[in-house]
Amino acid sequence: MLASVRTQPSTMFAATATAQPNIALVKYWGKRNADLNLPAVGSISVTLKVLQTRTRVQFDTFLSADSLLLDGKLQSGAELLRVQRFLELVRARAGRKLYAHVESDNNFPTKSGLASSAAGFAALALAATRALGLTLPQAELAQLARRGSGSAPRSLFGGFVEMHRGELDDGSDAIATRLLSEQAWPLAILVVITDSRAKRVGSSFAMEQSRQSSPYYGSWIAAQPADLASMRTAIAEHDFGRLGEIAEHSALKMHAVAMAAEPGLLFWNGATIELVHAVRQLRRQGTEAYFTIDAGPQVKVLCAKPDAERVLAELAGVPGVEKILRDEVGSGACVVEESR
Ligand code: DP6
Repeated sequence: MLASVRTQPSTMFAATATAQPNIALVKYWGKRNADLNLPAVGSISVTLKVLQTRTRVQFDTFLSADSLLLDGKLQSGAELLRVQRFLELVRARAGRKLYAHVESDNNFPTKSGLASSAAGFAALALAATRALGLTLPQAELAQLARRGSGSAPRSLFGGFVEMHRGELDDGSDAIATRLLSEQAWPLAILVVITDSRAKRVGSSFAMEQSRQSSPYYGSWIAAQPADLASMRTAIAEHDFGRLGEIAEHSALKMHAVAMAAEPGLLFWNGATIELVHAVRQLRRQGTEAYFTIDAGPQVKVLCAKPDAERVLAELAGVPGVEKILRDEVGSGACVVEESR
């Protein structure tokens, strides 16, 4: 049998983008439309600087299917399907029928509740559109990124960012906007890893289970506008104590909603709880530090930059802590290479 011979050179369109994960201070938990991935609540986050995703997308006329290399491993199944579905949206928008090879690398543990999907889909939205020659307005890019992951639009921006729930059925107002630049309020953010293995339950599934069965879901949704308003004020006034109190309350409420689902969802391990106590103990001793926890057992701790070393040393001594990544407020997603 003859080996197939390429008679024409392939045509490639490639771009690479970077994006940083973001940490929600007022949490997103619940969807108002699962198909369009429309959030049931708005949310407010802070974008990180050191933790980063780097994604290269190469559309190629010779490819006959999409492929995904995530942290050096070729993906199949749900992970690949999620990216394929996303690339379909990009192809439809660009009016091109080209398949792509996507390579994405995280400098932090993937899928362990460190917002890898937020950074991943922010970088993918940017790289894939730019590879096909599209420079989308921020609002449209945010809508696209949201289809990949509800928290991804927040990683398009640096600093403090609000993701709007939106009211419209088509989701055109469910976008992110920046509240404060990364330079305006420098804070330290410590990412305390208690288990770097991939989590067992994904956010989408857990949110849906919460919506369907948690008796607290309705009150969670009803209270969100007040939390968002208080957080906007705290950010505008650089009121760290208020920001921290609202952030802790939002995280605990989100987890309470999930725990009360049937069957109950519990993302924490023993070290997660010990860390919550350690942060509160630090506050009793006069160091302003606040925790937040996403859909995994890691704990993120916010404090003033001059306090970071002391807080880090204290938390490193908590049994069960694997490692602590030191981060700060960073910038939004950006394109780092394009070739056409
Ligand atoms: C707990 O954005 O990962 O981190 O839209 O289903 O992809 P999907 O969910 P995702 O959920 C993030 C949930 C959270 C809280 C937050 O980041 O606001």
